[in-house]
Amino acid sequence: MNTYPLLRALLFRLEPETAHRFTFNLLDQAARTPWCGWAGRQVPDDPISLMGIELPNRVGLAAGLDKNGAHIDALACLGFGFIEIGTVTPRPQPGNPRPRLFRLPDAGALINRMGFNNEGMEALLANVAARRSRTPIGINIGKNFDTPNERAIDDYRLGLRQAHRLADYITVNISSPNTKNLRALQAADQFGPLLQALRQEKEQTDRENGRVVPVVVKIAPDLDEQAVRDVARLLADEGMDGVIATNTTIERTAVAGLPHAEEAGGLSGRPVRAASTAVIRQLRDALPRGFCIIGVGGIHSPEAAQEKIDAGADAVQLYTGFIYEGPELIGQISRALRDARHSASHQTE
Ligand SMILES: Cc1cc2nc3c(=O)[nH]c(=O)nc-3n(C[C@H](O)[C@H](O)[C@H](O)COP(=O)(O)O)c2cc1C
Repeated sequence: MNTYPLLRALLFRLEPETAHRFTFNLLDQAARTPWCGWAGRQVPDDPISLMGIELPNRVGLAAGLDKNGAHIDALACLGFGFIEIGTVTPRPQPGNPRPRLFRLPDAGALINRMGFNNEGMEALLANVAARRSRTPIGINIGKNFDTPNERAIDDYRLGLRQAHRLADYITVNISSPNTKNLRALQAADQFGPLLQALRQEKEQTDRENGRVVPVVVKIAPDLDEQAVRDVARLLADEGMDGVIATNTTIERTAVAGLPHAEEAGGLSGRPVRAASTAVIRQLRDALPRGFCIIGVGGIHSPEAAQEKIDAGADAVQLYTGFIYEGPELIGQISRALRDARHSASHQTE
């Protein structure tokens, strides 16, 4: 029996950030009991190799839920195939004043303007080093809010260098709407130099640490087709390993008139599904064969996950769908993606 609807009814009576803390308290405690092994076994295996990383399944956790990597073991118990932590900035910062996270239940959506609240890279790395689980970890890096955009490259270089030793992959987040001018880094004149600097830093750090760590870039759903093509060309030209599509949207048409719809920030969940799938399709069209795409945005069902795969994604990530549908969604999606892959391979035999 799925008990999540009951738990959700309770959690949704709490202020969103209180519900977040309460849930992680519960999960952290449960992770130390035999429940952990049981929960993980509910997610069927669907292993793939993604950018050289061996994943037990193709359903990952998207960035932003565990900003400090403080709950990796609890999240790993739930059976995620990979866990992306962060966004982390070089120095700790408090983020925007509260309230900064809003539910739009009628739309299956959230609006957030958290503003990269996090305890900084040092604290995050200590948490990663102390974890017991072996689920692959992505570390999502950003810039401090008070680092001017002309010096953004310094924050990303530093983030890459520091995260390199412990990350299975590193995500460069230039698509959050909640740090002033951050998304301007996606424009070709700034994106090219940023990627060149990151490539240099990556190659040097790969050599120094004697291991190759894939670097992916996370982009917004609000780019037009030409901008997506420009991004794709630069990603491939500058030797990046993958792309995550997408972050939250600043579009509000789909939620117009609903309570909280006018709050500033990024909208996530069901209303972003179509836009994010469209960007994935455009990316797959423009990128070289084999270039890794991780699809995220509005995945609340196995069908929505399959839509991302059909559009060209190699793996998917969940955030808002996980909040609305609960942990059972991970197993449901993994099973559906595995079954679809099996039936496709039978048909081609
Ligand atoms: C409360 C909240 C905080 C988020 N924080 C981050 C973040 O720190 N870094 C990031 O790259 N994405 C962040 N995201 C974006 C998600 O990772 C994801 O890309 C987006 O929400 C679309 O997926 P979804 O519809 O499944 O939520 C955040 C999303 C939410 C709802």
